[in-house]
Amino acid sequence: MTFKNYKYIILLVDPFNEFNNLVYNFFQTTTSCNAMTCDSQNNAFQILESTPVNMILFHAENEVQGISFFEQIQAYPELQKVMLIDKVLDKKLFFSWMNDGLFNKFLTKPFQDIHLLLMAFESINEHLKNTLDERIKMEEQFVHNEKMSTLGQMMAGIAHELKNPTTFIHSNLNNLKKFVPNLFQLIDRYEQLDLPSEIASEIDQFKEDINYAYLKERVPRMIERTAEGTDRLKKILLDLKLFYRKDAQSFEMADINAAIESSLNIISHEYKDRITINKEFGYLPEVECNITKINQVFVNLLINACHAISDIGEVTICTCEMDDRVQIDISDTGCGMPESVQKQIFQPFYTTKPGTLGSGLGLSISNKVIKAHKGRITVKSQVDKGTTFTIVLPIKQSDIN
Ligand SMILES: Nc1ncnc2c1ncn2[C@@H]1O[C@H](COP(=O)(O)OP(=O)(O)O)[C@@H](O)[C@H]1O
Ligand SMILES: [Mg+2]
Repeated sequence: MTFKNYKYIILLVDPFNEFNNLVYNFFQTTTSCNAMTCDSQNNAFQILESTPVNMILFHAENEVQGISFFEQIQAYPELQKVMLIDKVLDKKLFFSWMNDGLFNKFLTKPFQDIHLLLMAFESINEHLKNTLDERIKMEEQFVHNEKMSTLGQMMAGIAHELKNPTTFIHSNLNNLKKFVPNLFQLIDRYEQLDLPSEIASEIDQFKEDINYAYLKERVPRMIERTAEGTDRLKKILLDLKLFYRKDAQSFEMADINAAIESSLNIISHEYKDRITINKEFGYLPEVECNITKINQVFVNLLINACHAISDIGEVTICTCEMDDRVQIDISDTGCGMPESVQKQIFQPFYTTKPGTLGSGLGLSISNKVIKAHKGRITVKSQVDKGTTFTIVLPIKQSDIN
């Protein structure tokens, strides 16, 4: 919709041909509206089918006549519905119908042209305001999308550049974890030697100067912590790359139950000795999907479920077939989420996890993946009770429009 082509369309339905000239003269010649008139309900329905009418005026002798028409056009909720009425028989009933929204405005006889015009302008004004609001929102969304897309390209580039240095830092740290204790052991062995007292006291002094006891205790721990940091970094880079990757769409027939099993294996460190995993797998046919991405979704949801359980608890995974779809429910007995959190969880970078624990990308990636499979992901959650994520996937991509 563009403002250049903005047109407000008014349709008068007047079986008595009484207001045709008035409506036509006012709206067609003195305003930028398009006025149309017809003299039967059937014609009106035909026009509504083919024309984006904004306002409809129906001329009725009384409210009973009017309402039978308006009841039939309830399928057009955007339409401003106006009753031009000769005589109201039962005011109470008339206003109760209006309160129920069967029509929006009315004019009773005798009314002057100016009343009609004022009423129409009020509606046009409202319509223009809504149109403008919609337009502003669309523009904001457009600017936001542009920003996100530029940001996304930058992110993918940065993630790619950071991957190599992160990988060698990580592998060097793992080597250091192995080698440094050997060096300390070597020093321990030297300490068992009988050294001349002069040299021994010099070494003792040096050990004191460099705070050797502290180093011996802290260095392995420092390496350990740094390695954890690079683990985390690697994960974020992987998430980022996945999030902004423009993948080739490679769909294949895959076993979803087996995919869940392998996802559970990958993340076993998250739940071992702490969380009971219940697998309630139903029979599933093979599903046409990009199984690498679907695995990523399962991993994200399962890790989230484990994170939500602070101590001990249960994670239950149910799968079943429903007509041309499969459904996967992943439930946990964790902390749950208030509605204010639930509303935001699919947004990129939204996380409630402290420090560097969460990247806030897991669910937005998952949502993107499931949508690309023409599926649906939904959440139900209760604070302190737990959360269930439900995924519905079509079995065959071609069956879904
Ligand atoms: N199973 C769950 N139980 C409670 N909260 C959850 C659960 N899954 C996701 N969340 C909430 O959604 C947020 C976003 O999740 P996600 O996109 O995976 O990012 P991250 O896990 O990195 O924080 C989490 O920080 C958490 O607040
Ligand atoms: Mg997550």
